[in-house]
Amino acid sequence: MWVNQGPIGRPLATLLTVSVKKMNNYSVTVIGLGYVGITMSVFLANKGVNVIGIDIDYDKVKHLSAGISPIYEKNIEKYLVKALNDKKLSFTTDYNAVLKTNISFITVGTPSNPDGSININYVKNTTKSIGELLKEKKDYHLIVTRSTVIPGTNHNVIKPILEKNSGKRIGKDFGLCMNPEFLKEGNAMKDLEKPSRIVIGEFDKNSGDLLEKFYRQVYRGLKIPIIRTYLSTAELIKYANNAFLATKISFINMISRICDKLTDCDINTIAYAIGLDPRISPLFLRAGLGYGGSCLPKDVKALISFLNMNNLDSSLLYAVNRINNTQPLNVIKICEQALQTLKNKKISILGLAFKPDTDDIRNSPSLKIIDELIHREAHVTLYDPKAVDKVKKIFAEKISYSYSVHQCINQADCVIIATEWDEFKKLTPQDFLKSMKKPIIIDGRGIYNHKEFREKGIVYKRIGLGPYKI
Ligand code: UGA
Repeated sequence: MWVNQGPIGRPLATLLTVSVKKMNNYSVTVIGLGYVGITMSVFLANKGVNVIGIDIDYDKVKHLSAGISPIYEKNIEKYLVKALNDKKLSFTTDYNAVLKTNISFITVGTPSNPDGSININYVKNTTKSIGELLKEKKDYHLIVTRSTVIPGTNHNVIKPILEKNSGKRIGKDFGLCMNPEFLKEGNAMKDLEKPSRIVIGEFDKNSGDLLEKFYRQVYRGLKIPIIRTYLSTAELIKYANNAFLATKISFINMISRICDKLTDCDINTIAYAIGLDPRISPLFLRAGLGYGGSCLPKDVKALISFLNMNNLDSSLLYAVNRINNTQPLNVIKICEQALQTLKNKKISILGLAFKPDTDDIRNSPSLKIIDELIHREAHVTLYDPKAVDKVKKIFAEKISYSYSVHQCINQADCVIIATEWDEFKKLTPQDFLKSMKKPIIIDGRGIYNHKEFREKGIVYKRIGLGPYKI
């Protein structure tokens, strides 16, 4: 599929030919070595692009240069080491690296402000540094924003900073694109290998042509839809995408609350049935503890703030956010009803990461559950295959930590499943029966067969499966 639209300026034909020729031997800088920057650098380098990763954090640069990834992602270190050995990838704290390359991808973070809007200071600082370097650069340079920014940011903030600090003209001396990413943590390398689409918001046709040509080369042999559009459209596509996913999750969680009021309703069957409608699709209809991570919660809040700023009705996303904030606490209610009181009860939590296959605990529903259990004076014990040490830094001595499932659930009064790791899915009723006093399981991710567990004498509850009364 091709969508070609945009405020296409008229680039100098010769300039385009020269730039494209040089770019056949692509050298790029990726600025900001967080989750997006690291995976992208490693991926591009393995595709034969010469990549220099830049970050102001010296330790991060040192570790990455030694082949150690600060983030956990399947196979990331294997690809990192290969790219380093092939001399396709290097890391530095020195922005001058921009001078050696023809494209700079901005992948710095855009964290939330307390009011939900995003803080774009890192984007501004990075843009200023690139602008200052462009002053010295003789040939054309393309700047590509990958960071998630609200509509208008590339046009109203990034472009003026680049022009002011370089003394050069956009469209003539440098180009600008907005190229949002749609990577899922835990699956980022696969998402990069075969993206569902590439969105290119372009300042002018020249910028879009260069980025499209770059991606066509990186993905040669694959049919990836490329959507070319305006800068602001590309910025909003990213927010619309994440807000829609969040809405699906809060919607199914809202329906699960109805199921929990009735005796014979099962949310999993409902999700399965409505998911078969091709207009709905089965994905992102898993009821549970709600969405966490660094993206969905942040992007929903940023879009609410943007709607409010523009005097537009934000009530839909406001409700999505509110349902999500209260969803993890449903397991506390269930737990309390099962045990009468939580005080001095041993509650084991299996799963701390916001989803499986990552060690990321940002906005993880587990953190809310732990906070509340501590408040209710329960004895909390945790286990996660990857994230225990990260949680230790937050709760320190207030709770206990385990390094195996069996250690965690041993003699527990109640087990809460908070992340659907494969390791937990494999557990059988027997595993719980032999370790727990009187097994009570609250399955926040719907990973077990309730009939099988109940038949074995386990008190089994999950979100959206009948009344809380046990
Ligand atoms: C999300 C989007 O899925 C990516 O497309 C996007 O690129 C990324 O944000 C980003 O903006 O960078 P991610 O945060 O890695 O990716 O996680 P998801 O796989 O979307 O899961 C988010 C949360 O929703 C998790 O806590 C997960 O457990 C929860 N979830 C997901 C549900 O509760 N139910 C579902 O049916 C699906």
